[in-house]
Amino acid sequence: MSTQEKSLQDIQNKKLLPNKGLINGQWLASSASSGNSTFDVVDPATLDVLATLPEMDKHDTATAVDAAFEAFKSFKKTTARQRARMLRKWSDLCHENAEDLALIMTLENGKTLAESKGEVVYGASFLEWFATQAEMVHGEVVPPANLNQRIVTFKQPIGVAACLSPWNFPIAMITRKCGAALAAGCTTVWKPAGETPLSALALAVLAEEAGFPRGSINVITSLTTVAEVGEELCRNPKVHKLSFTGSTRVGKLLMQQCSSTLKKLSLELGGNSPFIVFDDAKMSTALDAAILAKFRNSGQTCVTANRVFVQAGIYDEFAKQLTERIKKLKVGAGTDSDTFVGPLTHERAVKKAMSHIDDAKKHGGQVVYGGGPMGDIGLKGYFFQPTVITCMKQEMLTTREETFAPVVGLYKFETEEEVIELANDCDVGLGSFVITENMARSWRVAEALEVGMVGVNLGMLSACESPFGGVKGSGFGREGGTQGINEYLVVKSMLINVAN
Ligand code: SIN
Repeated sequence: MSTQEKSLQDIQNKKLLPNKGLINGQWLASSASSGNSTFDVVDPATLDVLATLPEMDKHDTATAVDAAFEAFKSFKKTTARQRARMLRKWSDLCHENAEDLALIMTLENGKTLAESKGEVVYGASFLEWFATQAEMVHGEVVPPANLNQRIVTFKQPIGVAACLSPWNFPIAMITRKCGAALAAGCTTVWKPAGETPLSALALAVLAEEAGFPRGSINVITSLTTVAEVGEELCRNPKVHKLSFTGSTRVGKLLMQQCSSTLKKLSLELGGNSPFIVFDDAKMSTALDAAILAKFRNSGQTCVTANRVFVQAGIYDEFAKQLTERIKKLKVGAGTDSDTFVGPLTHERAVKKAMSHIDDAKKHGGQVVYGGGPMGDIGLKGYFFQPTVITCMKQEMLTTREETFAPVVGLYKFETEEEVIELANDCDVGLGSFVITENMARSWRVAEALEVGMVGVNLGMLSACESPFGGVKGSGFGREGGTQGINEYLVVKSMLINVAN
């Protein structure tokens, strides 16, 4: 029996729960223009309402953009060192409030407290990272062909940045975008996912405390108005940059809407990561990496191991040992310290996982463990059995779509060439994993995979120093790394006549 052992009452720093949107330094309840409407934030483990927030609309969004636009006039003149100090202070405050931030995240997202704590540290690492990057921004002195000229370039913040972040990483996806934007000298309008806005609001409270000025951070809370809010951010000419993490379908729509104002875009869209285990892999490394890549966040990461390809020589042994390990994973409330797999964040994820399992069975897949929602565990939420399916085939639905649930499907392959072809037979390319003890092979395969990121002998691609992003239908632009800040900068060149 699992129980929800904690609630928002257990938050020590009550300031972290403003339950309002943030525009121009004012914490605002719902506006008259939106009919004073509100929405509920629900705990996916219990289905209890955690909080009721203003359902902000396009007018609120336009007001937030105006505030960010005005704030940009002075914020762009702050020095990189001043911004770096604020980012470091913000990071320190995240660490100081880590227990509270993690509990808020677990309650609204469902992930385990251990994972939430890990995400707070990961999220804060982007603030520290971009604090260092802020002071590294520099231009060039370019040798001129015309000796009467001198040419220099410098980089400037692009302007107001709209940051649209997903529910699966309620803190880290905000700091990865906004940390970079603020480091560059941009002001921001955040649109966190309607399922997990409480983490974003808590983060904004700490950003204010860290000294970010009025209007530099604005937060729009919205669930059912998401389409009009998104469209306003895309079409508003005062927004110069839009960064979105979410589905390929929505990414394409936002890109269309942004075309009228030719905004600079970063799109981190859907993935369908191949996880490739070669015969020469160390079994314990392969198992550890597979469990992490597939079951972290209950399978709800953009880089989850969606297609697990195992070479024929170890296929049966890998399937057997993986199943044994998976049988031991405890499913339950994220607040329960024994839990490894929390609830799914949405009911629709349960339906999608079931449709993938049914489709696999129809095409000859063998469900060797799990296979559906959990039975009664004393909580009403969206709990799903960790599931293993063998005999997966290319024609199955899971080959083309992300499952976003704790369901692992094993495909058998014979040769390196074959698996590269299978892995690349996909319209998206975000993450990938290669498990092998052969270093030459890891290089060959990494170079051949059509993806933005390759993990070798590990199950997680998260590191603030490493650029995160994809190719093909997974979008473009990079977050984190030395590239991340450039997404919020423009290069200006200056040509000087030095003739007498
Ligand atoms: C994602 O799923 O988009 C983020 C994963 C990560 O940064 O680890």
